Amino acid sequence: MNEMRILMAHTDDPEQFQIETYEKNGGYQAIRKALHEIKPEELTEQVKQAELRGRGGAGFITGLKWGFIPKDPHLTKYLVCNADESEPGTFKDRLLLERDPHQVIEGVMLASYAIGANLAFIYCRGEYYESITKLMLAVDQAKKKGYLGSQIFNSNYDLDIVVHPGAGAYIAGEETAQLNSLEGFRATPRLKPPFPAVKGLYGQPTIINNVETLCNVVHIVNRGVDWYKGIGKPKNTGTKIFQVSGHVQKPGCYEFPLGVSLKDVLEKAGGMFPGRRFKACYPGGSSCALLTEQDLTIAMDFDTLAARKSALGTASIIVMDDSADMVKVAHRLMQFYQNESCGKCTPCREGTRWVVQILGRILSGGGTYGDLKTIEEACSSMLHLSFCPLAVGAAPPIVSAMEHFKEEFERYINRNPNAHSTPKMKIAYPYL
Ligand SMILES: Cc1cc2nc3c(=O)[nH]c(=O)nc-3n(C[C@H](O)[C@H](O)[C@H](O)COP(=O)(O)O)c2cc1C
Ligand code: SF4
Repeated sequence: MNEMRILMAHTDDPEQFQIETYEKNGGYQAIRKALHEIKPEELTEQVKQAELRGRGGAGFITGLKWGFIPKDPHLTKYLVCNADESEPGTFKDRLLLERDPHQVIEGVMLASYAIGANLAFIYCRGEYYESITKLMLAVDQAKKKGYLGSQIFNSNYDLDIVVHPGAGAYIAGEETAQLNSLEGFRATPRLKPPFPAVKGLYGQPTIINNVETLCNVVHIVNRGVDWYKGIGKPKNTGTKIFQVSGHVQKPGCYEFPLGVSLKDVLEKAGGMFPGRRFKACYPGGSSCALLTEQDLTIAMDFDTLAARKSALGTASIIVMDDSADMVKVAHRLMQFYQNESCGKCTPCREGTRWVVQILGRILSGGGTYGDLKTIEEACSSMLHLSFCPLAVGAAPPIVSAMEHFKEEFERYINRNPNAHSTPKMKIAYPYL
């Protein structure tokens, strides 16, 4: 299958971040059309009909989410664009923010109009200095042209956008933690329900959508629901920006219709280095189960990968060739989750730390066979007993590495003369 650039159509143009170039390339037509020809509830319905699913990781149906916003016109509502992008291997939003920030802003405008929000926030990862700068410039340019403010595009609709630099934590990308951060509190997740669409930012109905999700809306409005539904597969419509990193010759962002085979994306990314073989990959960022050589022809879409007990997630393909040491990979990833755990709940705060320590012990030649069981138990409690999806995502990359590459873990363990001794730690959850 060939690449199909819709969201990335102009990202190679070095001037695309300027409002004049964006407009020359057809920009701000969708919001003009929506404001004058489409009622907010019709726009929500169109996005639902298009079967657009969120590109932030969970794949929730965007139009359905917008439909949860209370209809009361007197309620203040907010739109939050999630540009925190901190999942390992994920760098698609950065491309859109740096190269085509007005496309993001137009998506924010459309979503805000659909849900009746007059104030929107773009919460951008703090380390993305270039993205923040480009976004601020773009908002400024839009304001100067009268595209933001009161009665935009000669309509009765008012909208302002605030660009908010993030606080340098992966957990701030989780939607409720992000709301806390925006309100000036520590980024820890909130209990759901109530869901943000009912009680979100400052206690008001709020929709949180990913950067890429919102960019898709621009094209649905411009080119219609039927056109959009013709791309990809039923319930997995549109294109997806795949980010390929790791052991490939041309790492980068590649836009394909959903359902493209893993093999096609890897080929576009230059394939393996000479003399090397594909070993495994994480297909959707680090928070999902590994795919192996048997999966090379798998269709990269939400439903196929869920059925394979992995996930499309952010479609960030982290590739490993036969030189990769899976025990080191597991150890490194768990260090990330340990560092990023917000510490609010025990299975995540303690579990991630325990697994890092045990894997470290295995790597240094002091591991036992019992350690493998302890890791499984700790991962099981992360998966089933943690407060938010951060720890739910921390378990599959480790468990799947142990499942598919058990012999690599055992090779390290066999270096220990006491490999069959009782493990030093035991987790005892009576209900597991
Ligand atoms: C630990 C963690 C980090 C997340 N980081 C992001 C992020 O950086 N960007 C994002 O859009 N969604 C992120 N999410 C998912 C959001 O909670 C939320 O589902 C998403 O922003 C909804 O947008 P969508 O429906 O457009 O996908 C994260 C979730 C978790 C659990
Ligand atoms: S799983 Fe618990 S400790 Fe980990 S990030 Fe979520 S709330 Fe915080």
